[in-house]
Parts: sequence; C-alpha cells; structure tokens
Amino acid sequence: MRKRFRAAALALAAALPAGILAGCGSASESGEKMIIRIGHNQSTNHPTHIALAAFEEFIESRLGDKYDVEVFPSELLGSQNEMVQLTQTGAINFCVASNSLLETFSQNYTLFNLPYLFASGEAYHASMDDEAITGPIFKSTAQAGFEAVTWLDAGTRNFYTVDRPVSAPSDLKGLKIRVQQSPTNVQMMSLLGGSATPMGFGDVYTALQSRIIDGAENNELALTDNGHGDVCKYYSYDMHQMIPDILIGNIAFLDSLSPEERAVFDEGFDLINKVQREQWTIAVDAAKKRALEVQKVNFLYPDTKPFKDAVSPMHEAMLRQHPDFQPIYDAIQAYNQQYPSAES
Ligand code: GCU
Repeated sequence: MRKRFRAAALALAAALPAGILAGCGSASESGEKMIIRIGHNQSTNHPTHIALAAFEEFIESRLGDKYDVEVFPSELLGSQNEMVQLTQTGAINFCVASNSLLETFSQNYTLFNLPYLFASGEAYHASMDDEAITGPIFKSTAQAGFEAVTWLDAGTRNFYTVDRPVSAPSDLKGLKIRVQQSPTNVQMMSLLGGSATPMGFGDVYTALQSRIIDGAENNELALTDNGHGDVCKYYSYDMHQMIPDILIGNIAFLDSLSPEERAVFDEGFDLINKVQREQWTIAVDAAKKRALEVQKVNFLYPDTKPFKDAVSPMHEAMLRQHPDFQPIYDAIQAYNQQYPSAES
C-alpha cells in the first residue's frame, strides 16, 4: 500500500503543473484545461462513485472549457489517510474520507464518531443536513489545508465475524476486530471488550481471509462490494455507529475559484449528496439480499442496550473534554427526540 501510494504520489507530482502542487491551481490561463482529481476508496459500483461520476458530468457540462474532472476509485491514489494528505498539500483536489479518519486531522470531527450518537437513521440525516450542526465542524480545518464540502451516507456500522456470532458485548471478548484508524474507535472497541486492530480499509479482506483478524465492523456494502461476506458468515445489527463519509477539498483550490465557479461547484456538491443518498438506499437493499442469498451470511438482531450501555461513558467524557461541542450535541439530541429509534 505504501509503495502504491508513493508511486501514485510521484506520478501525480510529475504530471501536475507546479502551481497546483503549490496549492494554487485555478483554471489555466494558457487555455489548457485544469484536471480536477478526486480520489476515493470504493469500487465503481458503489453509490459514492456513481455520485462522483454525476458530479464529473455536471461540472464538465457547466465548466467543461476550463475543467476536466477525473475520479480515481478503489484506493488508486492510496489509502484514505494518504489521500487526505494529498488533498491537504493540493497534489489532488478532493477525496472522500470517513469522518473517523478526520478526527486525527481535526479534533472537531471526533463528535460524529461517538457510538450511538444518533438515535435513528432519520435523526442522523436531519443532523447532517443541518448546517448549524455540521458548519462549525466542516469549516474548522482550513488551517489543515482542507474544507469539507458535503457529506455522504455510509449507513450503520455493525460487527461481523468469520465464525463467532456476536449477540452481546461479551461475545467480542478475545476477538480481534478491525476498526478504522481513529482513537475513538479503538476506545469504543476496548469498552466493548474486543481487541481493536486498526488498519486501512483496503487491507481488511486479506486480514480476514488469513485470520489475522476475527472480524470487522462496517455497513452491509462491505460484505458484498468488498467481498467480506465471502469470509464472514455472521453480521450482527448492534447499530453502534452512523459515521458519515466526508468529501473534502483542498482549501487553496476552493479559494482560487471565482464566485461564479464556486456557485457551480456548490451545486455539484449538493448533487453528489443527493445522488449518493438515493443510490445508498438501493445499494443497501441489494447488498443485504446478495449477502443473505448468495454469500449465505446470517443476519442477527441482538438487543442493542448492552452495547449502548458499555460505551455510554464516552459521551460524557467527550463533552467534558470538548465543552464547545455541547450546543451541537444538544441540537443532535433534539433530532433524536424528534426521530427516536424504532426500538424505543
Ligand atoms: C465505509 C466507509 C469508508 C471507510 C470504510 C472503512 O466503507 O464508507 O469511507 O473507509 O467504511 O471502514 O474504512
């Protein structure tokens, strides 16, 4: 992975005009089109890729004389962590990163990684659509060189294992579970009793297959689109997190756009959000069906309360550590009241 990242970064560095690498890439004055590079770690079937392809078409239909959008799927430009760094420096213009990873770049993102933060899918969507909630977080990384321009649905994260069904936190004891590279996720895993094994998404399949890990946690698409359901036969709806994916853009590039161009890009970001969410619902239904019927994955529906209780101290601890999160946290709780979980 490292080698691939370096190779991709070097190839990009060789291909990009110096101005873009320096983070000041606006459309070329020489009349050449500027290439807008967007990286992500999903396959070309994934809702995220479909939405980015719609963005490419939209931008090129409106600003095609100046910009040529290129979407790089499947970690072609490196792991998410590596793509975030490429976006920070301006070697690429945009990438999709899980909110989990962004907490290592800005503490503000930690909030959305809290387990059981959102009571239901509706509360999650309403919160993420509310700029009073996302704005202070999305705009907080200018110093780190990037800005969040829209969010993407990544469903609900649940545990899945090769051969040990997880019906209660005690079933996680002694199991090595892959988590995303985020301190919050490592802490969550340790409170639930499992052994957290942080690694990049692209390495999970091989780690499962070779039994370096006993399981992982993710949405249903990981079973089918990433093949994890070929190895893991138990998927438990403990519903521990709803972690959005975030499209981040290089700040120097975004600032280089004229107000008219920025308005078109903003319309494009809204389009990504709309298309991705429409595709998400369809993709999850199809993934569940395929996992059940073709991969023969067993879906379990455990009582979520013991899982929730085990990690609930994380809420208070986080608010103590970041008192400035309180108004945003309260606004999310208001949506939780309005859209409670089906179980309550
Ligand atoms: C989901 C999410 C990705 C993330 C992955 C992971 O697929 O959409 O952004 O990289 O989970 O667990 O790493």
